Amino acid sequence: MNLSQNSRKSAPRIFVTGGAGYIGSHVVKALGEAGYEVLVYDNLSSGNRWAILYGDLVEGDLADRVLLEKTLADFRPDAVMHFAAFIEVNESVRQPLKYYRNNTLNALKLLETVRQVEIPYFIFSSTAAVYGTPETIPVTEQTPLQPINPYGASKMMSERLLADLAAVESNFNYVALRYFNVAGADSRFRIGQAYENATHLITRALKTAHGEYAKLQIFGTDYPTPDGTCIRDYIHVDDLAEAHLVALDHLMAGGGSEIFNCGYGHGYSVREVVEMARKVTGMDFTVEEAPRREGDPAALTADSRRIRRKLGWQPRYDDLEFIIHTAWEWEKVLKAKKYRNS
Ligand code: UFG
Repeated sequence: MNLSQNSRKSAPRIFVTGGAGYIGSHVVKALGEAGYEVLVYDNLSSGNRWAILYGDLVEGDLADRVLLEKTLADFRPDAVMHFAAFIEVNESVRQPLKYYRNNTLNALKLLETVRQVEIPYFIFSSTAAVYGTPETIPVTEQTPLQPINPYGASKMMSERLLADLAAVESNFNYVALRYFNVAGADSRFRIGQAYENATHLITRALKTAHGEYAKLQIFGTDYPTPDGTCIRDYIHVDDLAEAHLVALDHLMAGGGSEIFNCGYGHGYSVREVVEMARKVTGMDFTVEEAPRREGDPAALTADSRRIRRKLGWQPRYDDLEFIIHTAWEWEKVLKAKKYRNS
């Protein structure tokens, strides 16, 4: 949707938790470009003020019920998009309660407030981690939910809260988007992933190419896949952002509650990603074969026909080279930014 100049005066208002983070900030950008009025609510624990290209920021924590209620009551949004969450699978295994508190309990508190203020639409960041280790791929939205770590379980529980609430509240509808492996950066390189100690493959490979790490480890080379390494469905963050906009259109047009996978429907192995990272960067960085990482499914790809069919989602960047190119250019910007600030 592109709101006209006229309609912009009364543009729908969208409240975005975690809008200063990696995915949230790309969605805020897409909302701003489409003419929505945006308010970001973020405690900046992993997000950055500079990443918010549109709208205002309220620096606050979801656990701060008083501030949350006041902010929602003042802003009176048409819809809430909920990104704020912890996302590290390994950390969730070591500190499960931290994940259930932030990802599930805070989602519950947010939902209570959302109902109090009578906000009708809710879009939720879910994850492919709710599927655990599926027996067959690509996974559809009907594939059984069997998360194998607290991160996936914390998100699955939040999905359940939403489903149970929507079942009894006729004026409340939600869309849960299950993200696969999100990667890449803004094509103008203004925003991108900026976590400390990032663990994701593409970021890790590019930081190794940049010299931040001495080597990249490939976790497991004996998987039952063509080259022995894990296969994932890498989706460009701007295509994922667009999925949020079509989900919002759907809800605002009176559509019902839905759950959708967000991926391209095919994957690349770790070795293929490494080769592409070498090609894009022109760096022959060191790679070491290492044991399997606990909890990694051999292959995980999305059946995303449902979101394409029902919402007309049309991804534009289904191209691993482009994804890695944008991530690489962003890494350079990030490094320069850090250098200037140090
Ligand atoms: N990998 C390496 N070396 C690294 C980093 C990763 O070999 O240094 C491998 C992993 O073992 C895995 C693949 O690259 O096989 C992808 O790993 P990522 O850490 O990039 O991503 P994951 O697939 O583990 O996790 C992603 C999201 C999670 C989500 C999950 C769903 O980051 O939030 O997909 O499966 F839960």
